[in-house]
This record gives sequence, structure tokens and C-alpha cells, in this order.
Amino acid sequence: MTTADTSPGHLAFWARPDDERAAVFAALRRHDGLPWIPFRDPTPFSGGVDGFHAVVRHADVVTASRNAGLFANAPNAASLFDIPPWLTRYLDSMIQKDGPEHARLRKVVVRAFSPRMLARLEDDIRARASRIVDDVLAQRSGEFVSGVAQRLPVAVICAMLGLDDSHHDLVARHGNTLVGSADPEYTGVRRSYLMHHGAPGVRHVVSVSARLAFAGEALHRLVRRTGRDRLREPRDDLVSTLVHADVDGERLTPREVATLFILLVLAGSETTRATITHALRLLTAHPEQREHLLADVEGRIGATVEEVVRHASPVLQFRRTATADGELGGTEVRAGDKLLLFYTSANRDEAVFDDPDRFDISRSPGPHLGFGAPGPHYCLGANLARTESTILLTELLTRAPTIRAVGEPDRLLSNFVNGIKRQNYTL
Ligand code: HEM
Repeated sequence: MTTADTSPGHLAFWARPDDERAAVFAALRRHDGLPWIPFRDPTPFSGGVDGFHAVVRHADVVTASRNAGLFANAPNAASLFDIPPWLTRYLDSMIQKDGPEHARLRKVVVRAFSPRMLARLEDDIRARASRIVDDVLAQRSGEFVSGVAQRLPVAVICAMLGLDDSHHDLVARHGNTLVGSADPEYTGVRRSYLMHHGAPGVRHVVSVSARLAFAGEALHRLVRRTGRDRLREPRDDLVSTLVHADVDGERLTPREVATLFILLVLAGSETTRATITHALRLLTAHPEQREHLLADVEGRIGATVEEVVRHASPVLQFRRTATADGELGGTEVRAGDKLLLFYTSANRDEAVFDDPDRFDISRSPGPHLGFGAPGPHYCLGANLARTESTILLTELLTRAPTIRAVGEPDRLLSNFVNGIKRQNYTL
């Protein structure tokens, strides 16, 4: 392996197989303090920062998440690169904010994700899952991501927001572009360039940004149109809640409504579809685990979903920026330093998980950080993701128990989500 292949600051590293990445993180966890990873942001928005602290141990990710005053999400939690100013209009949502500003936005939507509201959604989720499995039984083989794993999360988030089924394709297509912002398929930047330089170059900024802005604008238009309808005629859906939200006597601005909408679409679909696809892949690769699960699907599916989220870490990392000089994991941190909280590494930390690289659905549900660590930004949709994955996988494994992955997955090139673009299956 070359140096690029072993550096999480270089895109070539994220193209390596899972076990090679895990071995690099295991070595980083053995370092004293936080490893410093050199990283040259080729875009002109980095503020000259030439690296980041890799937060790779479970305990350090927990400490950083709890200490949100010192390790802030602003200006940019969802990307190692600082986002060009003309894209913030699409992406500047609550995940990029801190303190009261973040709390104010989270308060507007938190009720829609309460256990009571989720219980109300279950019948609809079950009916949709059942139709997806009807198609699997009719077709008997095909492409799993578009035919199975993507369909449920997109349908559920659209239904919650109040978008009818005709919008699923548009939401999935533009969501893929925004989440796949490093992958050649969505950016048009040549793979050989990315593997050599580690990131898109300054000459790509205009074309990549244009593609992202096009996707963001399409989703903006959809929410503006739906929002106008709901202002006139409110319904029992999230867009109505957003456009009528009056938090502490203050309305959400149209831009806040739009970025919240885009956050929910992105956070709600890509991650859950990755979980469902990784489940198929892992259960195929580990037939003894699959047998164990099939012996009691109802009783073991909950623990299986947790183990898939731990083992695959659908969200690889989120970034923090230090607001002042301080300390983490025995390392001095300076104001302005970037830190990457590597959930993918924390979830394989041998100090917390026995034989951490083993996929084992009978682990007692350990304290994995796949949905983040306890703190103000802990995943809002964790229970929704669990419900969707559990219902769809139960339906699949009871009605199509011979289903298995065929061939290698076509993985998304990303240092942010552990996505799979395509995976064939057969019964
Ligand atoms: C298996 C699927 C999912 C995984 C692995 C996942 C993972 C995560 C992670 C790691 C975070 C950041 C936590 C932190 O910084 O402390 C997060 C935040 C978030 N997630 Fe999820 N997520 C999933 C599904 C969902 C779903 C279905 C939704 C909603 C529709 C959702 C909505 C959000 C939102 C809104 C945030 C930002 C919360 C905030 O800033 O306060 N997620 N998620």
C-alpha cells in the first residue's frame, strides 16, 4: 500500500477494502494521543488548514460529542472541506449549528420522531415493505439498492414530509448527488485524478459545485412549492409543521425550512439504505450468522440491525472544529483545529468490543456509536432507521429466506458515508 492508501485524509484510502481500512484505524488507535493526519484542501475555502486530528478511540469520540461548547459543529460538520459560500444556502442546516440556534431548529422537528409518532407510522412502513418484497419474489434476482434498500427510506421520509409518491425518483436522484459529492459518478471528476491527488482539485470547484447546486436547487424548488400549498392548506405532515413553525414567537425563514428539508431527505435515506444493503452483504458473507438469525428472525433481528450499524458504520465520521485551545485524548488542540470523529474506528475499538472486526449478531447490544455519541447532535432518526430496517429485513428474511448478495458491491467513493451504489442479489 502507498502512503495515500493508508491516510484517511486521502480519497484513495476510502477506495480500499473494509478490512484494510480497519487495520489502518487499529494502528491509529495504538498511537498516543490523537493522530494528526496531513490533509491538503485543494479548494480555496479551507482557511489554510493543512490537516486534522483523527479522533479514533471510542472514549475520545464520546468526550468530544459531549463537549459541544469546545468541539463545535459550525461552520461545517458534514464535510472535511469547508463548503463554498454559494452552496451553504442548500446545506446550512441544524447539523452545522451549535447552542441555542441548533436547539431552536431541532425543537421544531423533534416531535415528529417521538416513539408515539413512529408507532403511528409502523403500519404504513409494513405495507410498503410488503410491496417491496412482493416485487423481490416476482423478480427473483436483480439490483438490490434501487429495487429494495433505497425504496423504503425514500418513501418513508417523503410520506413524513408530505410529498406524494411521484416525487420519490427526484428525491433519490438529487439526494444521491448531494451525498455522493466525492464520487466520480456524481461529480464527473476522473477517478484516476482523485486517486492521485486525494480530492477534487481547484479546477473542479466550478463544475462540482454546479452539479451540487443543481441538485440542491431542485430540492429547494420542491419544498418551496409544497410549502406554499401547505401554508394555504395545512395537513398532518412535516412540511406543514415546518412552514407554520413558530418557535418562541419566531417563524422559521424559508431558507431554514429548505435546508431542514434537505437535511432530513439526505440523513433519512442514504444511511438507512446503506444499513439494509450492508445487512444483506454481511449475512451473505457469514452464513453461520444468517442461520442463527433465520432460526428466530423476530427475536434476533433487533440485535442484528445494531450489529450491522456497528460493523458497517453507515456514517463514517462527522467533523468538529475547536472553538478555543483545549485538550482531547492527551493531545493539545488549538482554536480552529479540525477534528474528525471516526465512528467507523470507535465502533471497532478493542477497548470496548471483544474481537471487534468479527460480525456477530449475538453480541449484547454494546455501546456502538453508529448513530453518534450522546450529545446535542445524536441522530434524530435513530429509532426511525431501526424501525424501517427491522421491518424490511424481517419481511425479506421470512418471505424470501434464500435471498443473498451476488458478486461484489459497487461502493460509493466517500470519506463521509459507507454507501453502496449497487449490489446484485438472487433468491
Ligand atoms: C442507520 C441509519 C442512520 C445512521 C447510521 C445515522 C447516523 C447519524 C449520525 C452519526 C449523526 C451525527 C451524530 C452526532 O454528530 O453526534 C446523525 C445525525 C442526524 N441524523 Fe441520522 N442516521 C441514520 C438515520 C437517520 C434517519 C432515518 C433520519 C431522519 C429522517 C436521520 C436524521 C438525522 C438528523 C436530522 C441528524 C442531525 C441531528 C442534529 O444535528 O441535531 N438519521 N445521524
